[in-house]
Amino acid sequence: MDAADTDARTGADARLADFERTIERDQRIEPRDWMPDRYRSTMVRQIAQHAHSEIIGMQPEGAWITRAPSLRRKAILLAKVQDEAGHGLYLYSAAETLGADRPELTARLISGRQKYSSIFNYPTPSFADVGVIGWLVDGAAICNQVPLCRSSYGPYARAMIRICKEESFHQRQGYELLMTLMRGTEAQRRMVQESVDRWWWPSLMMFGPPDAESTHTAQSMAWKIKRHTNDELRQRFVDMTVPQAAALGVTLPDPDLRWNAERGHHDFGEVDWSELKRVISGDGPCNAERIEVRRAAHEDGAWVREAAAAHAAKRARREGEAA
Ligand code: 3HC
Repeated sequence: MDAADTDARTGADARLADFERTIERDQRIEPRDWMPDRYRSTMVRQIAQHAHSEIIGMQPEGAWITRAPSLRRKAILLAKVQDEAGHGLYLYSAAETLGADRPELTARLISGRQKYSSIFNYPTPSFADVGVIGWLVDGAAICNQVPLCRSSYGPYARAMIRICKEESFHQRQGYELLMTLMRGTEAQRRMVQESVDRWWWPSLMMFGPPDAESTHTAQSMAWKIKRHTNDELRQRFVDMTVPQAAALGVTLPDPDLRWNAERGHHDFGEVDWSELKRVISGDGPCNAERIEVRRAAHEDGAWVREAAAAHAAKRARREGEAA
């Protein structure tokens, strides 16, 4: 190896050592810092799929905005769905700090080359679903996203802090909606229980496959992208939700669910991992519809992007001429 190679090698080793020291000290990796290519690609993968999930996640509840039972419920639901759009935009911006190209990320989503959360591929046939999504899906999101506020990549962690504040409103509005329904008629109580029965297991699947089958968890934990494993967060969600279900007066559809004093956690039944695999691979109840709506919205919005780009180019030319 000649002197130049040795210098280059020493430089690369020093950069890697610096990166690892930053991670070890629980400090943040920032956009201008050197980072291993694999760290960059893992962050783009996770952040992009998180952003896709937020945008696709607007559809299931958005379907109820025009059918909300009161102006108050409509206003709350509108605010929540708009929040999800904002979460998507923060996260696409965080992905762009890693050199990702937003139109390219959207193209990957629409063509199925990038994922979004399985949970958004289920239908919302009753208004109780709006409450159960807020309570269970946003509740699961909070369990998953609060630790991400301490993720090693700076822009992602900072986006999470703002997102988590809004998620807690999402979860509370859902739970309050369900409390109202549970104080209503027998038919309304049955509607809530039927919705809980449909959303409970898919909510547990949001945390990903079991640790033993997780492709990325070990490396993501080593790089402090993830601060807990999939199974740890799933368990935390179950433990948090059981007393909430009791206070609501609904039962969770798992005959194996019980407190295990020895473990200090709730035991729960086996998740149907084949269902998660099916839904992730595109064979969920609403996958085709969700992507078709996203594709159509992207195409319908092309004129807005073109107009904004033309306006920006014109202003840049004017500023260039004035300089
Ligand atoms: N749905 C779709 N894909 C999933 C999935 C799920 N529920 N769980 C895992 N996967 C995918 C992973 O993306 C990975 O595929 P890839 O290599 O093509 O990216 C594969 O299955 C293996 O899973 P791993 O556990 O190895 O992958 P991760 O380490 O990335 O863990 C994760 C998966 C826990 C979802 C992690 O990516 C994560 O924490 N992401 C950030 C949070 C997020 O994206 N949440 C999605 C919901 S957004 C939301 O809830 C919005 C709220 O407002 C409602």
